[in-house]
Amino acid sequence: MNKVNGNAGVQYAKVDTQHTYDGDVFPQIVVNNANCKTLAETVAFVQANQAELEAKLAKAGALLFRGFPIDSAETFDVFSAAFGYPNFTYQESLSNAVRINFTERVFTANEAPKDVEIFLHHEMAQTPISPSKLFFFCQSAAEEGGATPLCRSDKLFAALRVESPKLASEFKEKGVKYTTVMPAANDANSGQGRSWKSTLSVETVDDAEAKLKELGYSWQWLEDGCLKAVTPALPAVIDLADGSEVFYNQLIAAYMGWHGVRENPSPTITFGDGSPIPKDGLERIAELAEEFTFDLAWQDGDVAIVDNYRAMHGRRPYSGDRKRVVLVALVASER
Ligand SMILES: [Fe+2]
Repeated sequence: MNKVNGNAGVQYAKVDTQHTYDGDVFPQIVVNNANCKTLAETVAFVQANQAELEAKLAKAGALLFRGFPIDSAETFDVFSAAFGYPNFTYQESLSNAVRINFTERVFTANEAPKDVEIFLHHEMAQTPISPSKLFFFCQSAAEEGGATPLCRSDKLFAALRVESPKLASEFKEKGVKYTTVMPAANDANSGQGRSWKSTLSVETVDDAEAKLKELGYSWQWLEDGCLKAVTPALPAVIDLADGSEVFYNQLIAAYMGWHGVRENPSPTITFGDGSPIPKDGLERIAELAEEFTFDLAWQDGDVAIVDNYRAMHGRRPYSGDRKRVVLVALVASER
C-alpha cells in the first residue's frame, strides 16, 4: 500500500486492485495521517477536510477510511454524524432486510446467513424512499470472505448503452416494477425476511393498506398472512448532475438472489409497463457488473462511505468462526 498526500492534509493510499475511471481511482482510500489519535481528533479531521472528502466521494462513488480510532457502534455513530448529514432511519425505510438497531443512527447490515451472497444493488432502490449515502463500519472482519463488492453503476450503464442500446433505452424509458412478498412475522434466515408490519411501520391491515395506497403500490393478501405488494413503476436509470446515467435499481440482486427469480423473472420484476425484461439481458448485466466491481476486503476498524447514487454494493459469502460484524448508518436523500 503506497501513501500519497492530498492537498489539505488528507493522505490517500493506493492499492493494486483499485480501478481507475476518468483519471480517478475507485474507491478512494483515506489513511490516518497520524494526527487522529482520538475520536475527537478524527471528527476535527473530517470537518476540516469535509469539502475535499465530499469532492472525492462524489467523483469516485466510494471512500474508505482506514486506520482511524473507530472501534464500536458508538464511535462509528459519532464519526458518521461528524459529516452533518440528515439521518435515514431503518424504521422509516421500506427495506426488506431484517436488521437490529444499536444507536439511533447505527444498525446491522443485512443479517442473512453467512453462506448467502447478497448481490449488487443500490440500497432500497426497489422502494420509492432510498438513502443518498451509506456509511459502513467493519467492527469485526470475517475469517475468510465477507468482502463488500462495490460496483460503479454509471460505468456499467455506459457499457450497456454500447453493448445493448435498445435494452438500455427500454430501462431508461419504461422503468421497473418489483413484486415482493412480506412475511407475517420477521424471518431472520432470509435476506428479505422483514415482516409487513415492520416494513410498513404499521400494526393493522387497514393501516398497511393506507400506507401502500399512499406509496402507489398495489397489493394482495395471501392465505398464510403474507402480503404481496407491487411497486409503482420506479426508475431503472437515473441521471446525475455530471451527465452520467446510473443503473439505479435492484435488478441484479433480485434476479440473482431473490427466491425463484432467476428461473422465472416476470412474476417479480418487469419493466414499468408490466412487460417482461429479457432473461438473457439480466444475465448479461449481472456478468457485466463484475467488470466494474471492486471487492472491499474489510479490516477491523474500516469505515466506508458509498454514494448510493453512483455505486452499488453487496456482500460476498464468508466462513470461519469469527463473527463478521458490519454496521451501517444511512443518509437521507436531499434530491
Ligand atoms: Fe444493501
